[in-house]
Amino acid sequence: MSIHKLLPLVLFIVTANAVNKHTTTPPMGWNSYNHYSCYANETQIQSNAQALVDLGLASVGYTYVVPDCGWSAKTRTSEGKITWNETFYPSGFPALGKKLHSLGLMFGIYSGAGTWQCHPEGANYLIQASLGHEKEDAQTFSDWGGDYLKYDNCWADGKNFVVYYPNETDPSARFRKMATEIDAVPRDFVYGICQWGVGNNLERWASKIGNNWRMSNDITNAWHSIFRITNQVVPLARYSKPGGYNDMDMLMVGNGVLTPEESRTHFSIWAMEKSPLFIGAALENNLLDADALKIFSNKEVVAINQDLLGRAAELVRRFSEEEYDVWAGPLAGDGMVVAVINWGATERNITINLPDVGIQSAKKARDVWAATDLDGLDTTYSALIPSHGVKLLRLEGLTKAGEYTGKIGSDGTAFKNVYAFTSSSNYTITITPATASRVSLIIDGKNPITRPVSRSGIITDVSLSAGLHELRVSSRTKSLRLALSDFSKEYQDAPASLSFNVDSTISGSKVVDVSYINYDLSFDKAWSGEGLNVLNATFSVNGGKGKTWRFPISGQSWEEVGTMRIELDGFRNGRNVVNITGVEGKMIVKGVEIWG
Ligand code: GAL
Repeated sequence: MSIHKLLPLVLFIVTANAVNKHTTTPPMGWNSYNHYSCYANETQIQSNAQALVDLGLASVGYTYVVPDCGWSAKTRTSEGKITWNETFYPSGFPALGKKLHSLGLMFGIYSGAGTWQCHPEGANYLIQASLGHEKEDAQTFSDWGGDYLKYDNCWADGKNFVVYYPNETDPSARFRKMATEIDAVPRDFVYGICQWGVGNNLERWASKIGNNWRMSNDITNAWHSIFRITNQVVPLARYSKPGGYNDMDMLMVGNGVLTPEESRTHFSIWAMEKSPLFIGAALENNLLDADALKIFSNKEVVAINQDLLGRAAELVRRFSEEEYDVWAGPLAGDGMVVAVINWGATERNITINLPDVGIQSAKKARDVWAATDLDGLDTTYSALIPSHGVKLLRLEGLTKAGEYTGKIGSDGTAFKNVYAFTSSSNYTITITPATASRVSLIIDGKNPITRPVSRSGIITDVSLSAGLHELRVSSRTKSLRLALSDFSKEYQDAPASLSFNVDSTISGSKVVDVSYINYDLSFDKAWSGEGLNVLNATFSVNGGKGKTWRFPISGQSWEEVGTMRIELDGFRNGRNVVNITGVEGKMIVKGVEIWG
């Protein structure tokens, strides 16, 4: 094929990949907004940039410096170019860019897909943004040495400060326009979309054009804000990939309100969700407290954020009345991060079951914040976790859930800590090697049951109540695998009465996957703390005491169903009735899948 014919193909490939060439890990840096609002000036930006270097933060990876809102002038130059406010930035933006580059830092520029910048003074302070000027502004930002563009969403229709969904003019078109223009300039920009996640299907359009996309309303300097944003990232976590990240907003660590525990939890969540990490505290004039500096400088936590797999941790289990969550996600090289978050107001000992995060054991386990290696973990993990605190674990050498190695004795083989996640008589046990055509199984030291073993070592229909058991097999057996037969789970569409009949051949607690929709985004209520992006529903079995769960946002529209795993106690042998009551607000329960 001649070069002439190849050229369009090459160009096409380059354009199609344009988004991912900007960054392979979440961007890290410093942004002025959380501390200086829209009033930062040149001296402050420069001294914070200098402090990034002096405090060693630049060498940890915090290199993008973004003067947020407030920098542009009210009017454009006579040639129609956007320009800076000369009172705040007397030396000008090109000089600022040079200064940052001379410090080894990168220059982030803030603008927006609206007529004016977002500004707390609203219509009393209208300063230039980029809607309708995308081409010339992209060129200007490139001429000034820009490396990052944070692109906001106010005044989208030129008349209203915030145009609420569904009246907002199509954000994807406005943000795409600027993406095309910054891809056309000679400098390589990281493109940060700041549309706050209002409207439908944010990730579907934003991931095609941006490197990171704000998925919630602004963080505020309050603990409830951390819970609110975390509940909104739940359905988006699975989309995180190298070069495309959910942006949970700039960090509040170091801004004087969150306690050290809360700050570590906040930082851990942002890190494991692969959110960009932008420090939002003042660093100049020794204003940063020692705890905050230690948090930002924790290289092991930062390494979880910068992990090359780029995958975010997902909410695996939520215990709402007990006020804790378990999150887990994969890391490059077969490792895994697990976070146990104590949302409650008291310090508690919390035990998690490792099969709930998909593993049976880990040869290596690191308590990341304590910077200590634990003995390998097997089946369960317990820790005392302070109020609003977190246990962040990095695990390696993983064995899949359900795989056990036994201790061979003269009377057979003992398997300790065999974990049944739901009460069921449909468990299947596979033993290797299968040494006999019949074996007896002793469960928890009780009456042996004698069972035939198939050629492949399979024993079916074993009854286990949810929890930990000791299993003894009457033969020499190297390993044992426990699984639940597929047919034992049953999905039921929700009837209007939200009452389900469940037949069981065993008593105890069962795991239930609840399919639901909650797209009631807390936007207006975000500031007051009333809006937490959760809606409650209460479940009871056979008329017993109800238990309540807080369901996070489920998807990217009122059409997208999410699933949350809960566990219900009080099942008995025979017919059972599960009732769901108190379904809050507009939440829809679509159905349940009862395991066992
Ligand atoms: C918001 C944005 C914030 C900050 C602010 C400036 O729209 O989400 O991160 O940039 O505007 O007023």
